[in-house]
Amino acid sequence: MRNPIIVGNWKMNLLLEEATHLALSLVRELDGIEAGEVVICPPYTSLSEVSKRISGSSIRLGAQNMHWEDRGAYTGEISPQFLLDIGCQYVIIGHSERRQQFGETGEVVNRKAKSAVSKGIIPIVCVGETLFERKEGKTEEVVRRGVEASLKGISREEIVKVVIAYEPVWAIGTGNTASPEDANAVHRLIRQVLTHLYDEEVAQEVRIQYGGSVTPENIEGIMKEPEIDGALVGGASIQSGSFVKIIKTAMKARSRK
Ligand code: PGA
Repeated sequence: MRNPIIVGNWKMNLLLEEATHLALSLVRELDGIEAGEVVICPPYTSLSEVSKRISGSSIRLGAQNMHWEDRGAYTGEISPQFLLDIGCQYVIIGHSERRQQFGETGEVVNRKAKSAVSKGIIPIVCVGETLFERKEGKTEEVVRRGVEASLKGISREEIVKVVIAYEPVWAIGTGNTASPEDANAVHRLIRQVLTHLYDEEVAQEVRIQYGGSVTPENIEGIMKEPEIDGALVGGASIQSGSFVKIIKTAMKARSRK
């Protein structure tokens, strides 16, 4: 059975003190709770301090982005080595905000994903369609192409560690979520793509999570779907109360699957 994974993407929110405060609160609230895998992704500036605060707990650390090279003349960039150096085990790659606002192409996303797995960092690779693409009936095509482009050159041994996040762009930060059934159908499609690219065993092993306006209210329905292994949570992850509730509800729903 795939281990459920809930990831909090703090985006460009929380100053250092707020970030460490939230991290400590999560450590306290989740202490002794069977919570699957919980990952928090603070901004770069608080990664190091948050890393210290969660050390010894079951919460793991992720970054929101990274460069694919280890070092060099890349002003303003952060490399996989830097992330490993401060205890990051995960990195979000190809979030739609990076694709849309910072021009990240499928090729760039692929370079980053390949670099992460080769360095032993688990990439959380995001794919998803825009509202226009959905209305045009192109969801399947866009998601299939997104998955194929992102995973090019990733070996069978490496792919099983990758987490894929299905995030319909129109659902991110909007309060509109895909229905659990619709989200599940796209997750199933992603498993078909994985079967095609690798094999059935890989397709059953890779974890796929849903993201886009996940809240304590809608997480139960999402987690009950058979193909959905977790959630990538934005807005509701920067408050301890809502994030903890999402984690607890997700785990309960999961155990009833
Ligand atoms: P949201 O963001 O939960 O605020 O919609 C999700 C994401 O961007 O990963």
